[in-house]
Amino acid sequence: MASPQEILNDLKNVNYPGYSRDIVSFGMVRDVEVGTDVVTVTLAPGGAREEAIATIRADVEKRVAALTGIARVEVVVEAPPPPRHREPPRRADIPGVRNIIAVASGKGGVGKSTVAVNLALALKAKGRSVGLLDADVYGPSVPLLLGIVESTAGSDGDRIQPMHAHGLAAISLGLFISRGQPVIWRGPMINKLLTQFFRDVDWGELDYLVLDLPPGTGDAQLTIAQQAPLAGGVIVTTPQDVALLDVERGIQMFNQVGAPVLGVVENMSYHVCTSCGHRSEIFGHGGGARMAAKSDIPFLGEIPLARRIRETSDDGVPIVVAAPDGDHAKAFAALATRVEEQLEKRGHAALPMIH
Ligand SMILES: Nc1ncnc2c1ncn2[C@@H]1O[C@H](COP(=O)(O)OP(=O)(O)O)[C@@H](O)[C@H]1O
Ligand SMILES: [Mg+2]
Repeated sequence: MASPQEILNDLKNVNYPGYSRDIVSFGMVRDVEVGTDVVTVTLAPGGAREEAIATIRADVEKRVAALTGIARVEVVVEAPPPPRHREPPRRADIPGVRNIIAVASGKGGVGKSTVAVNLALALKAKGRSVGLLDADVYGPSVPLLLGIVESTAGSDGDRIQPMHAHGLAAISLGLFISRGQPVIWRGPMINKLLTQFFRDVDWGELDYLVLDLPPGTGDAQLTIAQQAPLAGGVIVTTPQDVALLDVERGIQMFNQVGAPVLGVVENMSYHVCTSCGHRSEIFGHGGGARMAAKSDIPFLGEIPLARRIRETSDDGVPIVVAAPDGDHAKAFAALATRVEEQLEKRGHAALPMIH
């Protein structure tokens, strides 16, 4: 007869679906009990999805039966812990704003702002009214991307007026924080400013407010994401950055604030030669799609690596506006469509007004 320890050792051969790590090292196996004619294995599901639990359950049953020769294997799955909210999940809606979409990435330089700005413009091109809130205090680039050289944001009585560019209403936290300030002082101030931005900015009627989060998925980003009632999150990655863990952390961050993950977009995915049209996959593309499938979240599409995308951004006229009929703009239009599809699936239909 196998001992509980032997069974536990044997369960190290059961991998968490989609991972190379096993369920024992993940801490999922809570208890193994060996009776005379039944083996009971208790699993703590953590945040695992139902399909993953079903797969694990079947694998455990098979392994334990094979090892012990006992046909009756009971797998008990503990009730999942209630979702952890560091703060009550109820946040005041922003008057006039229908859907807030946060754009996040595991690290900087993956094109998060480029995607946020062009996604906002692609939604705008579909006839929606869109605002952009640049919450990336470490590298506020939205004003530059939109060609806003000087802040025209001002207050009007007790309301803050956003800036306007290319038909978007936009505001950047970076413009309100002096550059010289040490980052350590910024935290509380950022939160205060954000609360004010959500509450006091005169956004008007918006179908979407796109939030460009600071890079990373740590506490700072979580705190920001927590301040707004998000309709969903978009995670930006690149083929070089295809780290499942990064995306998982992004998913966890959105889970913690109770926001659905709308999906992953792979930026700088492939390169199309401007002279010969040859498509090359410099970094080996497709990782984003695989990763999305593994993490069981939607894949929202891929944006090519293209000099024109960078140049138009540097010029302050992003590609969706600079070349609205080009292939790059089409890639962003497809992204916007998938984002709207995902929102709709989650009951956040834009029900856009016709502007
Ligand atoms: N698809 C792309 N093709 C070419 N250059 C890109 C693309 N996406 C982003 N870039 C460039 O990469 C740099 C980093 O992009 P940015 O959007 O500022 O990243 P992040 O906000 O993640 O730090 C910028 O110079 C930007 O113009
Ligand atoms: Mg940025």
